[in-house]
Amino acid sequence: MGKYHADSLNSIEGCRIVAVVDPMEEAASTLAAACGASFYNALASALQANPDADAVVIATPAGLHKSNILEAAASKKHIFVEKPFTLTVEEGIECASAIKAAGVLCQVGFMRRFDKAWEGVKSHAGKVGKMQMVRVRSFDGCKSSDSYYKTSGGIFLDMSCHDLDLICFLANSRPTHVNVMGSVTVNPVFESFGDIDTAVTCIKFANGAVGWIENLRFAVYGCDSQVEIIGSEGSVKAGPMSRTEVQCSSADGVNHGLLAVHYDRYLATFFVEMDSFIKSCRTGELDPRACNSDDGLLNIKLALACMQARSEGRTVEIAS
Ligand SMILES: NC(=O)c1ccc[n+]([C@@H]2O[C@H](COP(=O)([O-])OP(=O)(O)OC[C@H]3O[C@@H](n4cnc5c(N)ncnc54)[C@H](O)[C@@H]3O)[C@@H](O)[C@H]2O)c1
Repeated sequence: MGKYHADSLNSIEGCRIVAVVDPMEEAASTLAAACGASFYNALASALQANPDADAVVIATPAGLHKSNILEAAASKKHIFVEKPFTLTVEEGIECASAIKAAGVLCQVGFMRRFDKAWEGVKSHAGKVGKMQMVRVRSFDGCKSSDSYYKTSGGIFLDMSCHDLDLICFLANSRPTHVNVMGSVTVNPVFESFGDIDTAVTCIKFANGAVGWIENLRFAVYGCDSQVEIIGSEGSVKAGPMSRTEVQCSSADGVNHGLLAVHYDRYLATFFVEMDSFIKSCRTGELDPRACNSDDGLLNIKLALACMQARSEGRTVEIAS
């Protein structure tokens, strides 16, 4: 993700990357050279050498988010941190209070809030009457390695966290209860580390609406992302998005080819979220669409509640 964010930052007027940090020197020093930035193998040395930098973008593995957030906040830098905010609620609470104490901005990388299609659905939500249901489908079109899956934190922290954030954003209400039905349907490797490749998550919101999320770790036909809000007066939906706008109809059927894969599907959205973060650094106020540290913390609670709901086979209440 660091490379995607660097590309976005490089195309924002007046924004300059001064340091690229990574203990793996080879790839990161090439990226640093391409950005006209210096290379460092630790955040502490980059912060020390660049006291005038305004912000830190964190795209390390999730287990390192906490230490990087605390370091950036201690140096009074605004923070963009990739999802998930942290891996545990305790870490999330510590980070959120350090961010508030430092008086810096923090945006969590839930870019779907900035996606044209999902924003379009949200902007029409007022037309569906009383909100009854919110549906999010998210099937991953890219197969990752077994070692990635094993260390990813599991389907809820690694993948569904995006959908959990999006569904709360769309419902515009606090989730109160969660339940999950999930299993390993295709890839037996998930069983070896207690994870699943197939899940349906049901959420009850404080406004009475019911949400559900459909997740597959892998779909052969690409990234199937769909969103729908259903209400007393109608519904609004978007997705999935194909790789091409061309649809070919013949005696063999109607075909628009495979769906876009994740990074292509969200390429423009990655830019919009980063552009919004840089604008926020300039104005000192987060974009109202952005996922802030409190939203990031709620997301962790929700993802962990999904894990608990699945393992205990029961509905879990979300602590406020
Ligand atoms: N928003 C999205 O759609 C999306 C997609 C993929 C990944 N992510 C998130 O982005 C983050 C990174 O994921 P990735 O797939 O890019 O991982 P990655 O393993 O490809 O890249 C992580 C990089 O961090 C470097 N790193 C390790 N320790 C470090 C440290 N102490 N300081 C600085 N750099 C360090 C690694 O060497 C590596 O180059 C994760 O939080 C992940 O959940 C988000």
